[in-house]
Amino acid sequence: MSDTQPQPRKILVTSALPYANGSIHLGHLVEYIQTDIWVRFLKMQGHDVHYVCADDTHGTPIMLRAEKEGITPEQLIDRVHAEHSTDFAGFLVNFDNYYSTNSEENRELACGIYQALKADGKIATRTIEQFYDPVKNMFLPDRFIKGECPKCHAKDQYGDSCEVCGATYNPTELINPFSAVSGAAPVRKETEHYFFKLSECEDFLRSWTRSGTLQAEAANKMGEWFESGLSDWDISRDAPYFGFEIPDAPGKYFYVWLDAPIGYMASFKNLCIKSRQSADGNQKAGLNFDEYWKAGSQTELYHFIGKDILYFHALFWPATLHYSGYRTPTKVFAHGFLTVNGEKMSKSRGTFITAESYLQHVKNPEYLRYYYAAKLNGTMEDIDLNLEDFVARVNSDLVGKYINIASRTAGFISKRFDGKLNPTGNNPVVAEMQAQAAAIAESYEQRDFGRALREIMRLADVANGFVAEKAPWVMAKDEAQASALQQVCSDALEMFRLLTLYLKPILPKLAEEIEAFLNVAPLDWPAVNSSLPAGHAIKTYEHLITRIDPKQIEAMTEANKETMQATTTPAAPAASAPAAEGASYISIDDFTKVDLRIAKIVDANHVEGAEKLLQLTLDIGEEKTRNVFAGIKSAYDPETLKGRLTVVVANLAPRKMKFGLSEGMVLAASDERGGPFILSPDSGAQPGMRVK
Ligand code: MSP
Ligand code: ZN
Repeated sequence: MSDTQPQPRKILVTSALPYANGSIHLGHLVEYIQTDIWVRFLKMQGHDVHYVCADDTHGTPIMLRAEKEGITPEQLIDRVHAEHSTDFAGFLVNFDNYYSTNSEENRELACGIYQALKADGKIATRTIEQFYDPVKNMFLPDRFIKGECPKCHAKDQYGDSCEVCGATYNPTELINPFSAVSGAAPVRKETEHYFFKLSECEDFLRSWTRSGTLQAEAANKMGEWFESGLSDWDISRDAPYFGFEIPDAPGKYFYVWLDAPIGYMASFKNLCIKSRQSADGNQKAGLNFDEYWKAGSQTELYHFIGKDILYFHALFWPATLHYSGYRTPTKVFAHGFLTVNGEKMSKSRGTFITAESYLQHVKNPEYLRYYYAAKLNGTMEDIDLNLEDFVARVNSDLVGKYINIASRTAGFISKRFDGKLNPTGNNPVVAEMQAQAAAIAESYEQRDFGRALREIMRLADVANGFVAEKAPWVMAKDEAQASALQQVCSDALEMFRLLTLYLKPILPKLAEEIEAFLNVAPLDWPAVNSSLPAGHAIKTYEHLITRIDPKQIEAMTEANKETMQATTTPAAPAASAPAAEGASYISIDDFTKVDLRIAKIVDANHVEGAEKLLQLTLDIGEEKTRNVFAGIKSAYDPETLKGRLTVVVANLAPRKMKFGLSEGMVLAASDERGGPFILSPDSGAQPGMRVK
């Protein structure tokens, strides 16, 4: 075997678990695409690789978000799990398992780890004072407390940092703090919390860091953290909380960041269980959880993460694992943040682009995979998606250089030689390409995909030079050169095969289509050393890829601007402040935008074919009555409504429904206890009066 195919290794790879309360966007995809490319490369090398991930489902923001949508947290996380799975599949991110932290496997592992830490004396309890929302009856995470910045006095700032002057502080320092959940002034209240004694883990963490587990920049960061001293880590939260209750501590829950990384283990455990379940229901030898996770494991474990969550993965996580009897990660790979056109992703500029919206407008996920790969170099530097450069690069490299090799030569083989190739002789370009296999593999292994692509594209240039020099389109005019023509085109297609192999971790779907066209088995790394055999018949070349039209990019950024505007209407309230999703406090200005009026129900009728709706004719003091469809059929007989007063949102954009135009919204109360109950004013109110 050549040095490009070392001994098979047993490898477990993870990407960070995305929160289950938001959509996947192009920033997230930097990470999932990076990991997926690395995993696909290692699999092509013949290693035994498992790539697992899951949704990160616990915590206050998810609990409040579900409440706001009027659904249970379980319903929310199920829906988001399906959305995330679709998004990842759309970008060809090929997890071996995509699971959830809200699983039995995770509960068992988290409780087991906690108990092991406790037995080892690493858990302490302490009474702390925290902000409490007296209206909502819950303790408030920093992000859900707002107030005036103590430094610059900007209003409406979060409890941990000021978006205006950039200061960071404690929520207790905010001036005139209020709860972002209820608007109430928070009170300070004592509560008992559980802590992981990180302060006792310094020696272990120092030696773990020294063992080459981190990139240089990350190890430097660790140095700074050691310098300022490690504090114990608060791992508990009080009810109400969506998460796992701590064993023997009723009303106390594991903080989401305790069970989130354990979700890596749980997803793998679930994969182990599935791997032992054969199609006919019989048990078979499958993956062994302990082989990968017990202390002293000989397998490799890699975590891909963004630089923002390094603290959790380089301090808490290895310490948690070590002191509970598990192995620690082989390496943690942190990447930088995505900027778009040189700036932070922005909703107003339309550069906060969701995975779904990219697929809708640009369609081909491999363009983005290619562009990210070209920019990734295995460091923690930020990477920029420059949209103009994206179009230019994809069009010139993928279409202009790479695909061009096949599109200029395959036709002759089909038309003139019955699809049959000549044996590839000793073409020096082919030999040069093969000779680069080890260097390209090394770049992939080091996660320096940019360097790998520079080399691959240099080889594509050489191949194009060969085709241009031989000019098969000229040869084709001279019958005497038929055999030379067949040789040139065969050689070019062999070059194309090698480039496809090298690009396959990045462009897996295109590679699959090309394998079908070349009529070859799925390309793996050792296939570098074989070549298309004499007389091998290829399939007819069909158009493989189209150029990106800059108009598609314009449409995409436009659409993302629109999404932003749409989210400020009551129909989709969630997307404005991702960090504090669930927060529902609005300014008085926001409130006065809603035109609430007293309405008299002058007529009420059933709607043919509608299960829930009644059709109401409302007098709201205007010349013309309003037609409104209201979902109150389950609770009201239309006859009893006639003549009643109620409250209506008068400036809601008219909505076209199946049954006609609805010109407003009647207010009604409901939750799991009952309803809907429509509102009525006290006597004396007149149709058309403003409600404020
Ligand atoms: N739920 C935590 C991770 C728990 S891991 C046990 C989390 N979730 S996240 O949805 O906010 O982010 C998921 C991953 O995407 C993180 O690694 C994060 O760094 C990465 N990114 C999120 N936004 C990003 C950019 N704009 N750019 C690059 N990576 C980004 O953190
Ligand atoms: Zn400030």
